[in-house]
Amino acid sequence: MHFIYTNKTRDETRDMAQLTHKVPANLHQEPLVTSAPSHIRVLDNTYLTDDYTNLTSSISSKLSRRLHGLEGHPISTLRCIIESHFPDFTHISSLSPIVTPYQNFDSLSFPADHPGRAKTDSYYINRNAMLRTHTSAHEGTERWLLTADVYRRDEIDASHYPVFHQMEGAKIFGSDASSVENIEQESQRLERQLALSNIDIEDVPHVSETNPAQTSHDVRSSEVTAKNLKLHLNSLMYKLFADVAGTSKDDPLRVRWIEAYFPFTSPSYEVEVFFRGKWLEILGCGVVLQSTLDRAGVANKMGWAFGLGLERIAMILYSIPDIRLFWSEDPRFLSQFTHGKIDAFKPYSKYPASYRDISFWKPNHDMHENDLYDVVRDVAGDLVEDVTIIDRFTHPKTQRHSLTVRVSYRSFDRSLVNDEVNILQHRVISGLERLGVEIR
Ligand code: DAH
Repeated sequence: MHFIYTNKTRDETRDMAQLTHKVPANLHQEPLVTSAPSHIRVLDNTYLTDDYTNLTSSISSKLSRRLHGLEGHPISTLRCIIESHFPDFTHISSLSPIVTPYQNFDSLSFPADHPGRAKTDSYYINRNAMLRTHTSAHEGTERWLLTADVYRRDEIDASHYPVFHQMEGAKIFGSDASSVENIEQESQRLERQLALSNIDIEDVPHVSETNPAQTSHDVRSSEVTAKNLKLHLNSLMYKLFADVAGTSKDDPLRVRWIEAYFPFTSPSYEVEVFFRGKWLEILGCGVVLQSTLDRAGVANKMGWAFGLGLERIAMILYSIPDIRLFWSEDPRFLSQFTHGKIDAFKPYSKYPASYRDISFWKPNHDMHENDLYDVVRDVAGDLVEDVTIIDRFTHPKTQRHSLTVRVSYRSFDRSLVNDEVNILQHRVISGLERLGVEIR
């Protein structure tokens, strides 16, 4: 799953060259539009397009769905459960997904060459407006908890969707001695509660040479902050996962802390939970960079922040096998859930998948694989289940690159007939040709 902006470089970020093509035209329309429009409408506003515009209509149609506000929807229930864990935080959940690159990246000290900024990785309306790629794009200056839809260009399979939901929590407090003292007292309370829980925590030092306190923080207040963060999140993990992962005395919930790197925190950590024999990455967090707080106008404060992805957690808690299901408007999905309750999802009829392979030469200019995925999404919407590159090959003489891609189509509601799949595949091929590929 697309997740946190660590120092790990994702495969997809290898190929970052600028593309020369324009926005893929709306492939649902016949005849096909071949040049990009000069304006686009997004959420009731009109924007000029430019060489950064890459927002497709299949993505902008998601902007108004607001799954996290839909009573009874698993994403919304999970939001409420997490909100109830932070009762004295301000809960925010209706900020517009359109932000500036400054808000999304610069205000958080992302370096100029960070892969997340590339238009191959993010959806841009134009050079000055984009869809937020994470909830960290919104800053808070107190105790707050924000839920929002976030957008990233990515591959297609059961756990990747270009829209997902994150929650961002932060606690910012005075850096004077008495505020720090208050935090320590709160930590003692949390520590006593946690001692009664059946949880096994693998920790890392709060601060270390490789995960340092910021130069403007003294080590002790940085440690007090990190400890408070860890206690809040350990008890949140226990609240969420105790019932599904680890139940008996000899089988406690296992939580593991790992040193991490984010552009906007130091020290930084990732949290993983042990579930069905595997460690799952659940969230990123850390002590907020002083420069971020300075920019937000709270120079005399310090604090912690975390960000977590809701789909991944909901898929575990509800046993939901495919991320597309969250977007289903089918009563067979929605009517299964009661607001505030977590019940295992009961799969309804699974219709057969139908797949088509396609081989093509990549264009001479660089083509990013995310462009391929957006073409397929724009044509097939939620009828596409998976896109896998099954063969790569470089011609020994011409050095041209060839890909063979398998597109699996499957509907949750019905059997797709061959003719329909052929039409979808035909449109995918036309869309790819417009990117400059040569079908083999
Ligand atoms: N924004 C990060 C992401 O999307 C997650 C994250 C990491 C949020 C560390 C935080 C944080 O607040 O402190 O990958």
